[in-house]
Amino acid sequence: MASSANKNINAKLVLLGDVGAGKSSLVLRFVKGQFVEFQESTIGAAFFSQTVAVNEATVKFEIWDTAGQERYHSLAPMYYRGAAAAIIVYDITNQASFDRAKKWVQELQAQGNPNMVMALAGNKADMLDGRAVAPEDAKTYAQENGLFFLETSAKTAANVNEIFYEIAKRLPRLQQTPNPSGMVLVDRPTERANSASCCS
Ligand code: GTP
Ligand code: MG
Repeated sequence: MASSANKNINAKLVLLGDVGAGKSSLVLRFVKGQFVEFQESTIGAAFFSQTVAVNEATVKFEIWDTAGQERYHSLAPMYYRGAAAAIIVYDITNQASFDRAKKWVQELQAQGNPNMVMALAGNKADMLDGRAVAPEDAKTYAQENGLFFLETSAKTAANVNEIFYEIAKRLPRLQQTPNPSGMVLVDRPTERANSASCCS
């Protein structure tokens, strides 16, 4: 048990999903605690980092927020290759975005790191009036494909910290850590490199 103390882990995490699903908004909420109604579409990809403390360990997420526009699809392997974790994001008001999420899962299963921790985020959970994807369908799909599933809202912050924390707990190197406890978001300046667009 003592061996789990003071572990520092860097974990590359990639967000994938349809254009407009809310990838950048989830990252902006998680890293800066902000939300903007008119988030610009990502060009290429944007990099962020954020650290969470899980039990006695510290996980520094190195986050690649990819662009959902189809013309950037061929860049995606650069970002998911070697990634320890992925969040595949769809918009609960948009069935096509759920179909697109399934395609990403297939691609990761075929080409990604086999030990990758994968989360499925049904985002825009605040927009219940416009719901097009039943949570039961997403949950079943996630269970069948070895992902864990949460509905999130970058707007209200619902389940945003939780999804990153759950990923941190599931990282293989943290699996032996006993007695899961609460999450602490470590307050540290964020770094941005290669950020062609995003979030000003
Ligand atoms: P690309 O970069 O083009 O791939 O899109 P993206 O997946 O990064 O989506 P983005 O974060 O840019 O969000 C698209 C739009 O949806 C923006 O206008 C956001 O304000 C809005 N949005 C994102 N998340 C939520 C949410 O949880 N609730 C609501 N109501 N709107 C959201
Ligand atoms: Mg984006």
